[in-house]
Amino acid sequence: METAAGTDRALTGKVLAAYSKIENPRLKSIVSTLIEHLHACVKEMKVTDVEWEFAWDFMERMAAMTGPQRNEFLLFADVIGVSQLIETLNHEKPGQPVGFALVGPFFRADAPVRERGDSIASDDTAGARVRISGKVFDFDNKAPIKGAFLDTWQAATNGFYENQDENQPDYNLRGRFRTDENGTFEFVALMPTAYPVPTDGPVGELLRAAKRPPDRPAHIHFIVSAPGYETLVTQVFVKGDPIIEDDAVFTASRNMVGDFRKEGDNFLLAYDFPLKPGVSIMPKAPVPS
Ligand code: BEZ
Ligand code: FE
Repeated sequence: METAAGTDRALTGKVLAAYSKIENPRLKSIVSTLIEHLHACVKEMKVTDVEWEFAWDFMERMAAMTGPQRNEFLLFADVIGVSQLIETLNHEKPGQPVGFALVGPFFRADAPVRERGDSIASDDTAGARVRISGKVFDFDNKAPIKGAFLDTWQAATNGFYENQDENQPDYNLRGRFRTDENGTFEFVALMPTAYPVPTDGPVGELLRAAKRPPDRPAHIHFIVSAPGYETLVTQVFVKGDPIIEDDAVFTASRNMVGDFRKEGDNFLLAYDFPLKPGVSIMPKAPVPS
C-alpha cells in the first residue's frame, strides 16, 4: 500500500518531470530548484488550507500595492534579505573596501547631470548639508578613473524620496556627477537621516508580526559607473549611527560606513570609490523617469 510520504514524493517527481523540457538550462535549473524547495517547505510545515489561503491573499494584497511608483514584491525581497544576498553573492570579494548594496525601490534613472560642487538639494529643502568629495579609481592598479559617472539619491528629512512627496521638486535630492581628469568629484547633499521603509502594505504587516523596526539607518545611495568597469551600487552610512546594526533591509555593514565630520552647522565627507575591471551595466530603475 502506498504511504502518504510516497504519494508526496511521487507528486514532486511528476511536477519536476512536467518542467523538464525547458530548453534554457539556467531557467530549467531555477524552476526545478524553486519547485523542489517550495515542495520541501510545504511538506516540512504541513501547510494547511487556511494557511495557503492566507498566503495567496497576502500575494494578492502585495500585487494591489504594486505599480510604477511602488513595488511591494521588491520591498518584500528587501526585508527578508534576498535582495542584499543577491548583491553580496554576485559582487563581493573578501577584503573589498567598499561593499555592494541592494538598489532599493527608489532609484530613478536619468537624474539631472549637475556641475562639480552643485547641490542635489533645492534651496528650500530642510536639513543640514554635507559636502561630499572623493575619487573614483581602478581597484587593481589604483589609477584614477576620469569621466566616471556618480549617480546619487537620498530621502528628505521627512523620510520621503521626491517621487513619494508632492512638495519636493521633480528629481530633488537626485543627481549625476562626472569625475574630472584626476578621478575626483565633489558635490553637496543633505546630511542623511534615518527613515522607515513603507509599512502601509503587507510588508508592514510582516515587520510588525516579527516586531522588527522598519527603519533604515541614515544613508545616501550611489551608483558609480565607467566603461570597462563593473558598476558599483553602494550606500554610505553614518559612522556611529545607533541603528546601524538594525537595518530593516540588512544592507548596512562595515564596508559602507563614512566618517561624516561636523563643520559648523554642516558636515564634510571624504569617500573614495574603487571600481573593478568588468562589464559596465546599469541596474533597472524601479521608479520610472
Ligand atoms: C532605500 O534605501 O531606498 C530602500 C531600500 C530598500 C527598501 C526600502 C528603501
Ligand atoms: Fe534609501
